[in-house]
Amino acid sequence: MPAELPALIALLDEEFIFSRARSVSLALRFPDVLRGENCANILVACRGGDIAAAIAIKRFDWIAPERSWRGAMIGMVYTRPAMRGQGFASRLLRAAQTALRAEGTDFAVLFTAQSGFYRRLGWTTSDCGMFGSCISPGGAAAGCSQADAGAIEAMRVRSSEAHLQRDGASYRTLPLPAERLEMRISPCGAAYAIYGLRAENAYVYELGGAPSGYAALWQDCCAARRTVYVNARRGSEAQRWLSGIPGFGWHEQALAMWLPLAEPACARSFEGWYIPFLDRI
Ligand SMILES: CC(C)(COP(=O)(O)OP(=O)(O)OC[C@H]1O[C@@H](n2cnc3c(N)ncnc32)[C@H](O)[C@@H]1OP(=O)(O)O)[C@@H](O)C(=O)NCCC(=O)NCCS
Repeated sequence: MPAELPALIALLDEEFIFSRARSVSLALRFPDVLRGENCANILVACRGGDIAAAIAIKRFDWIAPERSWRGAMIGMVYTRPAMRGQGFASRLLRAAQTALRAEGTDFAVLFTAQSGFYRRLGWTTSDCGMFGSCISPGGAAAGCSQADAGAIEAMRVRSSEAHLQRDGASYRTLPLPAERLEMRISPCGAAYAIYGLRAENAYVYELGGAPSGYAALWQDCCAARRTVYVNARRGSEAQRWLSGIPGFGWHEQALAMWLPLAEPACARSFEGWYIPFLDRI
């Protein structure tokens, strides 16, 4: 598989990046996923020596207040255009499902705008994400400093919210369609923001820590004239705080799909679980 990785990256980039007028290869956006050492987590189907289809798997521990769960995220689901409709992606997804169940994974999750395809395979949609936007008129910056990953991670794990543990590489993820990632810490040191930038748009992926620090972070994010998009968990402190900003509109997301794999997860509702963009593939 490592020998086929460049060919796979080229196919994935054509599908998810270049044909959609985006930039920055997926190999740079998800350095932990699309690398030779991670090939055991990339399932590929071949026909006649060519890659026909692929999926990537990211295993993780989901640390919820009541217990830890073994989760697996599925991403980069792809079939070469000429080979679509022949069952390749469904077979890879079923193979992943069987392997994950056999190794004791509790649940699988993925994020998609094509829920119909996955529903046929038993996945169900449950998303507590909210997507908001507003136009920032520009203005003075509050001078929040650049944050390092360690400082953010320390704040993040202190919260009582269920979360996925991150390492340094997690903070090098660049979600689509951003072209650059900003990580800022408020002057009081108690709050952080992670947002992406692309042309005249900013995409806030996380606003966390103490709400007392949000105003300065928001001021920095809005210092340039741009459209600011925000992702937040429904009912989170960040969502409540941002709702107080005049002109801020929200709508519900329906991207997260779940598949329970082990008994305890079958009995659990995934309703309140929110996986931030930086953790997604
Ligand atoms: C989505 C995709 C992976 C499906 O791959 P595939 O190998 O053609 O899938 P399969 O052959 O296993 O299944 C095809 C079936 O799913 C159905 N299907 C495909 N996309 C669908 C959708 N969005 N909603 C409902 N059904 C869908 C097809 O109609 C077909 O149904 P049929 O078997 O009754 O004829 C492929 O179309 C693709 O690579 N698309 C571009 C990349 C992409 O969008 N990936 C998903 C990212 S979340």
